[in-house]
Amino acid sequence: MSILVTGGAGYIGSHTCLELLNAGYKVVVVDNLNNSKVESLSRIKEITGKELSFYKVELLDKNEVERVFAENKIEAVVHFAGLKAVGESVRIPLYYYYNNIAGTLILCEIMNKFGIHKMVFSSSAAVYGEPQSVPISENVPLGPANPYGRTKLMIEEILQDLYISSPNWSIALLRYFNPIGAHPSGKIGEDPSGIPNNLMPYITQVAAGKLKELHIFGNDYPTSDGTGVRDYIHVVDIAKGHLKAVEKILTQTGVGAYNLGTGKGYSVLEMVNAFDRATGEKIPYKMVAPRPGDVASCYADPTKAIEELDWIAEKGMEEMCLDAWRWQKNNPNGNGD
Ligand code: NAD
Ligand code: UD1
Repeated sequence: MSILVTGGAGYIGSHTCLELLNAGYKVVVVDNLNNSKVESLSRIKEITGKELSFYKVELLDKNEVERVFAENKIEAVVHFAGLKAVGESVRIPLYYYYNNIAGTLILCEIMNKFGIHKMVFSSSAAVYGEPQSVPISENVPLGPANPYGRTKLMIEEILQDLYISSPNWSIALLRYFNPIGAHPSGKIGEDPSGIPNNLMPYITQVAAGKLKELHIFGNDYPTSDGTGVRDYIHVVDIAKGHLKAVEKILTQTGVGAYNLGTGKGYSVLEMVNAFDRATGEKIPYKMVAPRPGDVASCYADPTKAIEELDWIAEKGMEEMCLDAWRWQKNNPNGNGD
């Protein structure tokens, strides 16, 4: 029996495939390589010494997805495949709604057809939108602030309806906070196309000399130093959270949402200083206007995942910075090298 990983060539998917293989699972990856390269899968094989099956398949192509299910004995699905750039989702919302939601509907329909009812879904802290207070627990009112976040909430609701319609479904909705870092081997990591939107890849590219300086978006937030506060979590911890969620859905039915975060907030300036301390690289920066749509402070209450998934984030900020930097130094052009 295999675990099907949609979007398995991407950043979080590749780290999760690696953990699944190391835990002894067979892995089948489906990815259209829209935002990733097949090289990440070769690297996983290099690191683990284990094989996985790969299908370059578009999730919106029902016949092709069906073929994957027909050719493999799938036991459960870990569903990462989706578009994730918030700004782009505001500019071209239909593309986001279509890709993320229709892709999930097709996947669920085929799972139903093959009698497979176990799924771990990549949701996001984006479902919370502007938090009323921090830390954020799973049961606060949800209110995503952009089309990307709304696709995540809509999919969560679709999956909850599936469970109501048929209680043999078993679904874990994992709401990630800010995944950063890379596998300590330096062989797989985040490979953003173009200029990064997110803080850590921007910092590593400044350190590498690819970008001149970091622009810090706003220094007048009601936080300790005025810059935005987030819950950064090592991608390997996120991947291990999937392993725990897979164990849970394989043994119990039900649907549950879980925050995957550390529970600690770091400001942008604290991140710049942490990176300097860990790597010895000074990051030149300048303060600029806040980025529209950003919130002051967002970090998780991870108690539910600790108690119900038996999972806790183990890696600290120093490791996150060192691993992100090793990946950047070893792969100046990402997975293209
Ligand atoms: P990623 O872009 O690196 O990986 C997503 C993968 O899905 C890519 O390899 C892409 O090619 C593939 N894909 C997209 N649409 C597809 C389709 N229609 N058919 C087949 N493959 C398709 O992103 P990531 O950072 O690894 O994120 C994985 C998931 O986690 C996404 O659903 C994302 O929304 C969610 N998430 C990510 C973050 C983050 O900060 N990285 C935070 C919260 C949630
Ligand atoms: C962003 C997404 C969020 C997604 C998350 C996961 C937006 C509005 N939100 O979150 O939906 O789930 O990524 O990856 O895009 N910053 C700078 N300069 C930069 C980049 C970032 O100062 O060049 C600051 C931001 O203002 C923020 C912090 O760094 O305070 C983190 O930003 P980022 O890494 O983009 O993550 P989020 O905005 O939290």
